[in-house]
Amino acid sequence: MAGFRTLDDLGDVRGKVALVRVDLNLPMDEGRASDVTRVEASAPTILELADAGAKVLLLAHFGRPKGQRSSVMSTSMVMGDAERVLGREIMFIPEVSGPVVAQSIGILRDGDIGLLDNVRFWPGEEQNDPEFAKAIAAHGDFYVNDAFSAAHRAHASTEGLAHLLPAYVGRAMEKELKALDAALGNPQTPVVAVVGGAKVSSKLAVLEHLVTKVQHLIIGGGMANTFLAARGVDVGKSLCEHDLAATANAIMDKADHAGCTVHLPYDVVVAKEFAANPASLRTCNVHEVAADEMILDVGPAAVEALADVLKTCRTLVWNGPLGAFETPPFDEATVALARTAAALTQDGSLVSVAGGGDTVAALNHAGAAGDFTYVSTAGGAFLEWMEGRELPGVKALQS
Ligand code: 3PG
Repeated sequence: MAGFRTLDDLGDVRGKVALVRVDLNLPMDEGRASDVTRVEASAPTILELADAGAKVLLLAHFGRPKGQRSSVMSTSMVMGDAERVLGREIMFIPEVSGPVVAQSIGILRDGDIGLLDNVRFWPGEEQNDPEFAKAIAAHGDFYVNDAFSAAHRAHASTEGLAHLLPAYVGRAMEKELKALDAALGNPQTPVVAVVGGAKVSSKLAVLEHLVTKVQHLIIGGGMANTFLAARGVDVGKSLCEHDLAATANAIMDKADHAGCTVHLPYDVVVAKEFAANPASLRTCNVHEVAADEMILDVGPAAVEALADVLKTCRTLVWNGPLGAFETPPFDEATVALARTAAALTQDGSLVSVAGGGDTVAALNHAGAAGDFTYVSTAGGAFLEWMEGRELPGVKALQS
């Protein structure tokens, strides 16, 4: 991969200590990880290095302990999950530097895997303190970063270490960077972006950047209400940031100038109360929303038109659901459009990349995630990438 060193550029690693930054920030449910996708994503990197005879030291954060030890935020909480996914035993090391780490490395055999404790227990991590980074680097022969989802943080383990040791991109990070390049870096055009979710305010920078990069921008979710209201549509009691009307209009103007078509729903699914299958459910034109109704999903006619937009495009970037997808039937537009994207991807006519918080859950719910070209497990990092920002953890790996 141009500009980066990957595991293919490593020579003989037998007996060498690999410091591997992974993302083990897993969602938890009653003491167990409810989703191990991030471990699965990094498993190829970890196993490749271990099988080549390196002593693999996993370096990760877990939660936000703010520079203090906390037993519930120890990485030991997710060690069992990691062992299950990897099918290997892991040695837990309750430090990230110092004599305990040195002794543990002495005990590890070539090909063994160790897990260091939560690197955020030390304030030097988030401060990107060079002395802290040096203390960790002292134990490693080389550094591998496989945690794209933490690459928006300029921390010691995500950024500082890359300057202190020979630095390599792990297999998961490599896949991610290639997919993101195909989506917005050097995409096949036309490109369509789907941006949904509740609030415009949380995605302003994303929208402003995307209108300069894509030919079609589909806005869904609560965000669409703010845009509709800015155009003079009465959205009743829908979730809407009325104070952002001028901002929404400015984004639409910017899109016009850049040759980007903004697609807003023209029919919508509304109800008087937000509940599953409410009695007051109906579909109407956006101009017919009553004062006591709220918009909860994009309507079927609009979804069909949006599917037609997807059919004319070669690349899709998706972030955020189109409706209140966790509550049926307000998942229908998201499910229908996701399935169209999945089918077009499988036909070979569309490169589809999705990511960010709710998006993965929404695509999984639609049964479409597996058929997308790439689905990122990153939350904040994916959004910052969609804003066109350079991610410090990625920049530091550039050779
Ligand atoms: C994530 O869960 O998105 C990453 O692990 C980053 O976590 P953070 O937002 O606490 O930095």
